[in-house]
Amino acid sequence: MDTTTPSKKLRVLAIDGPAGAGKSTISKLVAKRLGLFYLDTGAMYRGFAYKVLRNNIDPSDEKEVKKLVSTTAINFDNGVTVDGNDVTREIRTEAVTNASSLVSSYKEVREFLVELQRSCAISHVGSVVEGRDITSVVFPDAQLKIFLTASVEERAKRRAIELGDIDVAKIYQEISLRDKRDSTRDVSPLIMPKDALLIDTTGRDIESILDEICRMWHKADTESKEI
Ligand code: DC
Repeated sequence: MDTTTPSKKLRVLAIDGPAGAGKSTISKLVAKRLGLFYLDTGAMYRGFAYKVLRNNIDPSDEKEVKKLVSTTAINFDNGVTVDGNDVTREIRTEAVTNASSLVSSYKEVREFLVELQRSCAISHVGSVVEGRDITSVVFPDAQLKIFLTASVEERAKRRAIELGDIDVAKIYQEISLRDKRDSTRDVSPLIMPKDALLIDTTGRDIESILDEICRMWHKADTESKEI
């Protein structure tokens, strides 16, 4: 089969959305159900941000951060490794969360990681890839593109439960700030392309969302095989 035909889509399920929309939970479960590889691109940005902090570089110092790109090796397979070291747990701290939001706005960092994300996902027969620019930049030719969202209130409540932090008001502010930064940055801002399907997870149970996505995937998969 000629996979270079322009209308042929990649066997990728691309999922974007703001922080706390349920992307990770849903993407992991969908990948498991469909037997696809799962790629968390946010974890890669976090891995890079972790290295920035470990090198005592100020994440807002773009010039210094950029210098690290050429000497960093990042890999994702269930967890993240940076230069061969597993940092899956370390990347979930508040400091890394904030640093990743900053370093992900730098062009060189994005180019470096987008390249890795493409080759990693394509090396599998089918992948679920989640992030902020997957439907728009990394895999605009994915066979299914989904934009997950939820109200800021609900996202803040979910994060508070996840972190065991009762200060929902503080988390609400942090999420609002990250939303603003992620969607207004110059390079690859969080946007919803016209051909992505919007799913609002506010007040919905996970099972019904999984069913909806899996149904759409099977439909897209069948259509793609007919091309
Ligand atoms: O999804 P997350 O919270 O783990 O993402 C961490 C940061 O990385 C977040 O501020 C947005 C950024 N990110 C991005 O810019 N592009 C992606 N494809 C994934 C994450």
